[in-house]
Amino acid sequence: MSILITGGAGYIGSHTDLCLLNEGYDIVVVDNYDNSSPEALRRVMELTGKTFPYYEADACDEEKLAEIMKKHGVDSVIHFAGLKAVGESVRIPLRYYENNLLSTIRLLKAMETVGVKKMIFSSSATVYSADNQVPLTETGKLGCTNPYGWTKYMNEQILRDAAVADKELTVVLLRYFNPVGAHESGRIGEDPSGIPNNLMPYISQTAVGRRDHLTVYGNDYNTHDGTGVRDYIHVMDLARGHVAAVRYADTFKGSDAINLGTGVGYSVLDMVHAFEEANHIKVPYVIGARRPGDIDTVYSNPAKAKEKLGWQAEKTLVDMCRDQWNWQSHNPNGYAK
Ligand code: NAD
Ligand code: UD1
Repeated sequence: MSILITGGAGYIGSHTDLCLLNEGYDIVVVDNYDNSSPEALRRVMELTGKTFPYYEADACDEEKLAEIMKKHGVDSVIHFAGLKAVGESVRIPLRYYENNLLSTIRLLKAMETVGVKKMIFSSSATVYSADNQVPLTETGKLGCTNPYGWTKYMNEQILRDAAVADKELTVVLLRYFNPVGAHESGRIGEDPSGIPNNLMPYISQTAVGRRDHLTVYGNDYNTHDGTGVRDYIHVMDLARGHVAAVRYADTFKGSDAINLGTGVGYSVLDMVHAFEEANHIKVPYVIGARRPGDIDTVYSNPAKAKEKLGWQAEKTLVDMCRDQWNWQSHNPNGYAK
């Protein structure tokens, strides 16, 4: 039996491939390399000493997905494939709705055709409405502020409905908080195309000299130092969370949403200073205006993941900063030669 990983060449996907292979699972990867490179897959093979089949294919191609699942005896799917740039989703919403919703629908239909009954889905803390109290629990009110977020919200609804209609289906909706860091080898990591939207890749690209300075988006928030607070989680902890979710999917039918976070919030300046201290390098920054759509504080209540998945984050802030820099400093231009 094998696990189909859509978007398996991407940032979280490649780290999850590695964890699954190390745990003895067979995998097959589908990616269209829209935001990734097959080089990540080559490096996963190098790190694990294992090979696996991978296809350059679109996760919206229902026939191809069915053919691949049948050929490789797939019995569960982890669906990472999706577009994820918030600002871009505001500029070109239809591309986001088309890619992120159609891929899920076509994948579900292909699964139905070949009788695959388990799916782990990449959702996000962004599905929580801004008026919840922190820490965020899975029963919090849902609601979004941008098309990217709405695609996650709508995908969750589609998957819940599918699991109501098909009593044999199991869907685990993993709501990630802020993934950062890289595998400790520094061989795989996050390689955002263009100017990074997210904080940590911006910090590490500034440290390596690709960016002049970081702009801190506002220092007048209601937090301990005025800068925004988030729940940063090491990507290897997140990847392990997927292995736990694959096991959990064997134990129930229906759908379940679970936070993957640490339960601890750090501010932008906490992250800058931790990065500087862990790596003995300066990160020049200036204070700028608030970014539209941002809020003061977001962090998880991770209790459900501990209870249901038997999983909790283990890596420290120092691990996150050190591994982020190890990847960035050894691969200043990401996977590009
Ligand atoms: P990523 O861009 O590195 O990985 C996504 C992968 O999907 C890429 O390799 C891309 O080429 C591929 N892809 C996109 N559309 C595809 C399609 N139609 N067919 C085949 N492949 C396709 O992003 P990531 O950070 O690894 O995120 C993985 C998933 O987790 C995404 O769904 C993302 O929305 C979600 N997520 C990410 C974060 C984060 O901060 N990184 C937070 C919450 C949720
Ligand atoms: C952002 C997205 C969210 C998405 C998540 C993961 C927005 C409004 N939210 O969340 O939908 O799920 O990424 O992809 O875009 N910051 C700076 N300077 C920078 C970059 C960020 O100060 O150059 C600050 C932000 O204001 C925030 C914190 O750093 O306080 C984290 O930002 P980011 O990494 O973009 O994550 P989120 O805002 O949590």
